[in-house]
Formats: sequence, structure tokens, C-alpha cells
Amino acid sequence: MDVYEAVDSRRAVRAFNDEPVPKEVLERVLTAATRAPSSGNLQPWHVYVVTGEPLADLKKHTTARALAGDPGDEREYPMYPDELASPYLDRFSAAATQRYEALGIERDDPDRPKKIAALNSQAFGAPVVLFCYLDRMMGPGQWADAGMYVQTVMLLLRAEGLHSCPQVMWTMYRNTVSRTVGADDDLVLFCGISVGFEKEDVPRLRTGRADMTETVSFIGV
Ligand SMILES: Cc1cc2nc3c(=O)[nH]c(=O)nc-3n(C[C@H](O)[C@H](O)[C@H](O)COP(=O)(O)O)c2cc1C
Repeated sequence: MDVYEAVDSRRAVRAFNDEPVPKEVLERVLTAATRAPSSGNLQPWHVYVVTGEPLADLKKHTTARALAGDPGDEREYPMYPDELASPYLDRFSAAATQRYEALGIERDDPDRPKKIAALNSQAFGAPVVLFCYLDRMMGPGQWADAGMYVQTVMLLLRAEGLHSCPQVMWTMYRNTVSRTVGADDDLVLFCGISVGFEKEDVPRLRTGRADMTETVSFIGV
């Protein structure tokens, strides 16, 4: 698979089957991903790979919290800016509409937030979740590094025939996650990445994008 194909075929997949992911595949991907760049070569991320019984247990606890309408743990970083304006708000709304339609959740369903949280808490059925943490002392530059690292992992997963879904939703239950993985207080949870093989016979969601010319300016060419 070439890089263009890996980038184009990566989607946030929200329906995984329960086929296990061999440990040697995860090791191959995570070893290759150590080549991700970072400013000053700090490599500021720390990843916990959770599967099997510990993941089943974690899903059980977080799903129970979601279904009880638990608002979640105090956030350590905002998911989005408070004042999200156009064009970002338009893109956000368009993607949310596409996403909920694909998941079969009605826009006016009063239980929509609970249902979304519960699906996320189940890691959309994925048999593996990678939890990506950063040292609490790190700043915006290192958060950007962590984003590059996560994308590197997700593209390498495509080369192995695997799919993924990055999930900031796990930060809602960060205390439960940190207890499961044994992360100490010096670490901040950036996101979880659900990993697995995609379920057959589910709608394939290809989320729209702004045209390249809306987000890129060529100067001097
Ligand atoms: C850091 C990050 C966090 C995300 N968190 C969630 C999440 O909690 N739940 C979810 O369903 N999708 C999540 N997504 C997926 C985005 O919704 C998705 O990438 C975006 O809508 C574009 O769709 P695509 O990745 O399928 O092309 C997240 C993506 C990123 C990069």
C-alpha cells in the first residue's frame, strides 16, 4: 500500500468485528511508528496497549458510566474552543450529521448523547485500544507531535489491513482509563485509538472535507 492509498483509505471506523489483532502486528506497527517526527526529538508520547480482559472490564465500567448519564471526569483540556465559529462550526455540524446518520442515531433523539457516549465506550467493538498520553509538563508543540504520532500509527495500521478510530471521548472517563492502565498523575490522556478489523456490511462513511484551496494558500507560485 503506498502512502496516498494509506491516507485515502484511513477513516474513523465505528464498527469493528471481534477478530483479534495479533500482538506481533501491533509490535510491528508501534515499532515502525517510533520513526514519527517530534520537535527536538522529544518523542513526548506514552502509549498503553489495552486488550483482552482488561479492555473488556474497562468497556464495562465506562459504558455503565455513559448509560447512567455520567457527565464524565473533569476535562484536562478542552475538546474544542468554547466559541467555535464559521467555518469550523459548519464543518463540525456537517460531520456530526453524517456521523449520526451512519450510526443510525436520530438528531432529535433525547438519548443521543448517552447513545454516542456508550458506543464510544464500547470502542465501537474494537478488540484493542491504544491510549496515548503526554507528560503533563508538555506544551502545544508537543501536543502537535503527539498528533503526528497518532496519524503515523493509523496509517501504518492501514498497511496491515487494520482500521482505527481516534477517540477524544475516552478523556471523559480518564480516571477509569488511568486506573486500568496504571498511568500516574504526571500523564495527561490525549486520546484513545480503537483498533481492529472493520465489520462487513456496515455503511462506509466518507466524511467530507473542505476543498484544498480553502485551507492552503500558495505564495510565489
Ligand atoms: C484527536 C481526534 C479525536 C477524535 N475523537 C473522536 C471521538 O471521540 N469519537 C468519534 O467517533 N470520532 C472521533 N474522531 C474522529 C473524527 O470525528 C474524524 O476524524 C473526522 O470526523 C473526519 O472523519 P474521517 O476520519 O472518517 O475522515 C476524532 C479524531 C481525532 C483526530
